[in-house]
Amino acid sequence: MDISKLENELKSVKQQMDGLRDLEPSKRAEMGAKLNTRNREIEAELFKAQREAREREVNDRLQGDKLVDITVPDLNARRGHLHPITRVQREVEEVFASMGFIIEEGNEIATEFENFDSLNTPKHHPARDMQDTFWLDNGQVLRTHTSTLQNYFLKKYGPEFRAISVGRCFRNEAVDASHENTFFQVEGMMVGKDISIANLIYFLKHALTAVFKKEINVRLRPGFFSFVEPGFEFDMSCVFCDAKGCSVCKHSNWIEFCGCGMVHPNVLRMGGVDPEKYQGFAWGFGLTRLAMMKYGINEIRHFNSGNLEFLRSVK
Ligand code: FA5
Repeated sequence: MDISKLENELKSVKQQMDGLRDLEPSKRAEMGAKLNTRNREIEAELFKAQREAREREVNDRLQGDKLVDITVPDLNARRGHLHPITRVQREVEEVFASMGFIIEEGNEIATEFENFDSLNTPKHHPARDMQDTFWLDNGQVLRTHTSTLQNYFLKKYGPEFRAISVGRCFRNEAVDASHENTFFQVEGMMVGKDISIANLIYFLKHALTAVFKKEINVRLRPGFFSFVEPGFEFDMSCVFCDAKGCSVCKHSNWIEFCGCGMVHPNVLRMGGVDPEKYQGFAWGFGLTRLAMMKYGINEIRHFNSGNLEFLRSVK
């Protein structure tokens, strides 16, 4: 019923209740009971009508309003993404973990022993010149390579293990399109019985094929690093021309990928592993260079430039 009609009726009942006192006592009780009953009925109806009117009003308003669901993500917002180096790092870690390698984190600040002496590179060894670095006042260095992990691996996991470590390295470099003073390397090491360079070739070839998602061929050339014997330079088939010859590989069909070799007996000994019983291999490749090859980037300085347009463009 109409709210105003009910209100008027309620008012009238209340007036009649006020007039009860003028009635004769014999009629007052009967009339009073009737008015009370009617009063309750009207109040109930009025309450229901008012509630229905409020609901109608709210519904009408909601129909007219544009509803906003604050839990829906803003599709126009610019989303962040991982740095290309982090992406390649994760891919590399995943593929080596799938082959049973321990993933270890290393320190960017190393002792002179870790960076040089434990790697068969004592003071005044000419190999130190090739890795000029930043020395701290306390005699420590910003590590020049992830090979600082070799002694650590041997002491922690020796004499039988396989492990990798990814991390930042620092060198006092003449910076150019392919050389930075801060870059990433991946160290890999496997030690045990009957380990040979054939194992190293298998693991690296498999990892490269997984990262580039196509068959990669590899080859070794002799190379010198004081902490391996024999030492090699490890080349991979050119990913830019699929080994057909291009300006990147200088029409050689090969790209230099990393240094590697059989761990030098002195290095094993300094890590507490007997070289008469155990042997192993080690490699150290440039993760930054790997990212450059994977994403076709020809300028290494972009990575640390803080240039977000560049980082967004790397797909
Ligand atoms: C080493 O650093 C050795 N520790 C590698 C090694 C490990 C050899 C274990 C034998 C056994 P090298 O100086 O060649 O070697 O560096 C290895 C890789 O790091 C290079 O192939 C390159 O990809 C990367 N790299 C070296 N210097 C720079 C630089 N300034 N900027 C960017 N990448 C670099």
